[in-house]
Amino acid sequence: MDSPFRADVLKGKVALLTGGGSGIGLEITTQFGRHGALVAIMGRRRHVLDSAVSALRSQGVSAIGIEGDVRKKEDAIRAVEETVKHFGKLDILVNAAAGNFLASAEDLSPNGFRTVLDIDSVGTFTMCHAALKYLKQGGPGRDSSSGGLILNISATLHYTATWYQIHVSAAKAAVDSITRSLALEWGTDYDIRVNGVAPGPIEDTPGISKLSPEEAQSKMKEYMPLFKLGEKWDIAMAALYLASNAGKYVNGTTMIVDGGLWLSHPRHIAKETVREVSRIVEKRSREVTSRPPTSKL
Ligand code: COA
Repeated sequence: MDSPFRADVLKGKVALLTGGGSGIGLEITTQFGRHGALVAIMGRRRHVLDSAVSALRSQGVSAIGIEGDVRKKEDAIRAVEETVKHFGKLDILVNAAAGNFLASAEDLSPNGFRTVLDIDSVGTFTMCHAALKYLKQGGPGRDSSSGGLILNISATLHYTATWYQIHVSAAKAAVDSITRSLALEWGTDYDIRVNGVAPGPIEDTPGISKLSPEEAQSKMKEYMPLFKLGEKWDIAMAALYLASNAGKYVNGTTMIVDGGLWLSHPRHIAKETVREVSRIVEKRSREVTSRPPTSKL
């Protein structure tokens, strides 16, 4: 799908994206590259990185792949340093690496719970911490007029409660909290904007294939406000907006891109029924309240 943004909105910006070699992360990487950014992608699997980098380069995007695990502080520091060594600076950090699987709270071991928090929440903070010295106003490769940008990929699971997702709900709640705290502290001290994007169900991603069997997907569509799954493109466009100058006054927000799904509930009464009964019920209740009180004599 064509982009509504100008092709140079990220011209010359250097972006490091964890989990940028597959799924939603790769689409964000691709769109950032197509809009002028130089991109470094970090992930655990060499073959995934290699195929993403060659696909990006074939589209004319300057890209490198860096093997590493966001759970390891030394990998986080190395990924940041390699990006700066290769491209000369760092402007944008996208934390898209995530771990997930379905498990009931009863069947989930504490280590399973911890593993997802380690990847999503601690990993996000570790990457932010490693990138700070390059992202801050006046940091190496950056002038003193502005700081860089952090974008955290979140979810909507924790807004209410989601079945079999206690680990990810807790992890993403922490991610949103990190987004707000860093927006406050680093926005004030270093002019770094920190925002998030919370995708709903996005077709053709590991998230949807791992977490939502096909029959559950068609059921989900029945009560989704927009009646369809999202596309990876939808998330990438939100990320592009937040990363571009169009979002220059947006700080500390997590933009929900889910077609309104998190607001939805199964319809408990038909629209036609509401039309039929609503005014009748109103009229009746007005009659009752306007009737003079009956004498007790
Ligand atoms: N159900 C219940 N528990 C599970 C599980 C599942 N499907 N998969 C893993 N676990 C538990 C393991 O049993 C282990 O706990 P234990 O030591 O008490 O047995 C713990 O989680 C760690 O598992 P392990 O396989 O060692 O972790 P890993 O580091 O190799 O993998 C995961 C991390 C589990 C998050 C894996 O799913 C992953 O790497 N995912 C990355 C990609 C991804 O899921 N993306 C999702 C995008 S929505």
